[in-house]
Amino acid sequence: MSSESFPAGEFGVRILDLARELAQWSEMQDGLMCTFFSPAHKAVAAQLRDWMGEAGLEAEVDPIGNVVGRYASRAPGAKTLIVGSHYDTVANAGQFDGRLGILTGLVVAAHLKQTGRQLPFHLEVIGFSEEEGVRFSAPYLGSSAIAGNFDEEVLARRDATGASLATVLRKDGIDFGDIQSLAYRRETLRGYLEVHIEQGPVLLQKDRPLGIVTSIAGSARYRIFVQGVAGHAGTVPMALRRDAAAAAAEMVLAVERRCSAAANLVGTVGQLRVPHGLINVIPGSCELSLDVRSTDDAIRDAAVADIRAAIDEIARRRRVTVTAKEVSRHRAVPCAATMQAAFADAVGRAGIEPFYLPSGAGHDAEMFAGLTDIGMLFVRCGNGGISHSPLETVSAEDADVAARVLLDTIANLR
Ligand code: HGY
Ligand code: MN
Ligand code: MN
Repeated sequence: MSSESFPAGEFGVRILDLARELAQWSEMQDGLMCTFFSPAHKAVAAQLRDWMGEAGLEAEVDPIGNVVGRYASRAPGAKTLIVGSHYDTVANAGQFDGRLGILTGLVVAAHLKQTGRQLPFHLEVIGFSEEEGVRFSAPYLGSSAIAGNFDEEVLARRDATGASLATVLRKDGIDFGDIQSLAYRRETLRGYLEVHIEQGPVLLQKDRPLGIVTSIAGSARYRIFVQGVAGHAGTVPMALRRDAAAAAAEMVLAVERRCSAAANLVGTVGQLRVPHGLINVIPGSCELSLDVRSTDDAIRDAAVADIRAAIDEIARRRRVTVTAKEVSRHRAVPCAATMQAAFADAVGRAGIEPFYLPSGAGHDAEMFAGLTDIGMLFVRCGNGGISHSPLETVSAEDADVAARVLLDTIANLR
């Protein structure tokens, strides 16, 4: 099927309209936030399920909140191609991170169904319930369940109110056994494709609407606790202080220094908190997060080791104690050459020169690496490539060409 088989522009406009509609449900008054099993999250899941049903797909919401829309094949022994991404968001999020991929899959599956196009495999569009890991500090809850690598340990993770994931699921009558039963068997899968905004400036700078992802960076995330001695801000001489926040500040700069010293490496302290901090009290403790990534696990692990050594040295010199707890670790994964080629052929047929780039962001696709062939297609971000922000933008034209390329890729996959 050539990629000109439907009116150019139609799908891009629809994708942006649907994304705008989904953004009406939020946990924030003045911004978008949609985290695991909140009322906003459940409303979005129900809306996605309804849209999938209206498109003629067999639609359901599974026990861990994934929204699955299925266009069954008539071919005997057909395998399943999953086209997915996530509908949860970070705090003060943009409308397109994750959701663009679900909605692009939805409009393409609707087109295939409505034009009666038969596929040699079942097509499933899946909106995964929790990729960011915001509420329980546990990313990929939905996709890891489908991929069969859900970590039972995360059931004990607690949210800001102290509620555990297990308790929240149990309220809906769901237990670990229900989650385990969601796992797809390797032999039933044809592959996994994900369309996602780039979340960076490369396609914008190169003036390209689409990019083919070569690999997805692996991340290591930690929570670091610094314990010093609280004291009166007016009476304790500077030389006698064991200031936890000052020590943490030096640790943040050590992360920045180490991760700036090598290519293909990034390190971020996204959270920095003085519990019960007061303006006239020397911080007795300080908590910070750490996120280190590279598309080369050895580069990332060497940086983590150096950072751990640096924060221990800072703690010793400042007579504070420091503990670091690993929160999550995901290996860097390559995208399958066959899926990169399938996307490249479709991009070429759309009259665009294929452009390849790695992903510094993590994606649900990681969960399927090793289980089936994975492919990712990036879509240009506007506003300097900003993401995880309300300034996140995608043009209708770029969303449209992404839908046409996804349709063409699926239609030509065997
Ligand atoms: O953090 C990430 O890479 C993704 O946005 N979850
Ligand atoms: Mn994200
Ligand atoms: Mn995402």
